Amino acid sequence: MKELLRKLKKIYLGLIYSIHYLIKFFVFVCLDFNKEKSFETKLLLAVHSIEKGFGIQNTRNEFGKCNIEILQKTIVSYEKKGYKKDGFAYLSALSILETYIKYHLDRNIHDSYIESLVSFIKERNFRSIPTGFKIINNQNTPNDYLGLIKARHSIRAFSDKHVDEDVIINCIKLAQTAPSACNRQTVKVYYTMNKKKIDSIGELMAGNKGFTNVNNYLVITSDVSAYTYWENGQWMTNAGIFIYSLVLALEYYNIGNCILQWINNLKKDKILRKVLNIPTNESIVASIAIGHKKDEYKILYASRKDINDILVKVV
Ligand SMILES: Cc1cc2nc3c(=O)[nH]c(=O)nc-3n(C[C@H](O)[C@H](O)[C@H](O)COP(=O)(O)O)c2cc1C
Repeated sequence: MKELLRKLKKIYLGLIYSIHYLIKFFVFVCLDFNKEKSFETKLLLAVHSIEKGFGIQNTRNEFGKCNIEILQKTIVSYEKKGYKKDGFAYLSALSILETYIKYHLDRNIHDSYIESLVSFIKERNFRSIPTGFKIINNQNTPNDYLGLIKARHSIRAFSDKHVDEDVIINCIKLAQTAPSACNRQTVKVYYTMNKKKIDSIGELMAGNKGFTNVNNYLVITSDVSAYTYWENGQWMTNAGIFIYSLVLALEYYNIGNCILQWINNLKKDKILRKVLNIPTNESIVASIAIGHKKDEYKILYASRKDINDILVKVV
């Protein structure tokens, strides 16, 4: 009887917590309940897509016109709503347009399209924040923490040198220093050295368009069944912590890398599970594209928000 009551409690509370989680997702993501935040998200996604266009190896002239159009339309609607003009999203949006214009003018591309962007920008007064890309010379990565975290950036174009399996294993060993809830270590890293499988993993990823010479993918999963009903979402938290530990480990071994999102696509999920033999109790969280760094490589500015946007002091 006691056991049955315990089970019923687990089912009841598990359901309540899951519904609570779902409602939050549904209200704020699907119904766009916080309109200003939704606008900011739309701006930041367009900014990131355009910035990524600078970060890939072969940046085309006048790339991403579709995203530029989305950005301009969103800026105009955002302004009409009277939302704040000193926020990170709005300033990033105008700054990336400014960078886009400068990139083209520096290359003597000054046609009616670029001119229309110049007019758009001239109509607005704003404080620029750094956007676009930087070129980095590949040097040995520092082995002190401050140097290491500052040296880490997402890289999307790699050299054609092969990443050896023992290097991958050393990185995973180092990443295992990550903390985990009750030391349960529910995260796994799947990889293969089979070229055909590596290519098929690459085809399943959504965010690797324009990447060059990805040598391998590390697929990160977290075991959902290792948590209790009051730990909704903890499998993801633990995976996130592990992933950051892993990218720092990769950086320590001077392996270029870029985390790739794993989007909700049931068909792709099924295929990836089949390619890597991932059981259903494990959720696929993300993957990491890896490869050796080139002698010179591009990184994005990917400016960070002002500390006051994320640090909240309550008195
Ligand atoms: C969970 C997660 C998913 C990401 N997905 C992608 C992706 O699909 N494609 C991509 O090019 N970058 C992806 N990134 C990398 C981010 O764009 C990058 O971390 C961000 O712009 C900051 O730049 P930085 O890593 O160089 O500091 C992802 C990062 C995280 C943490």
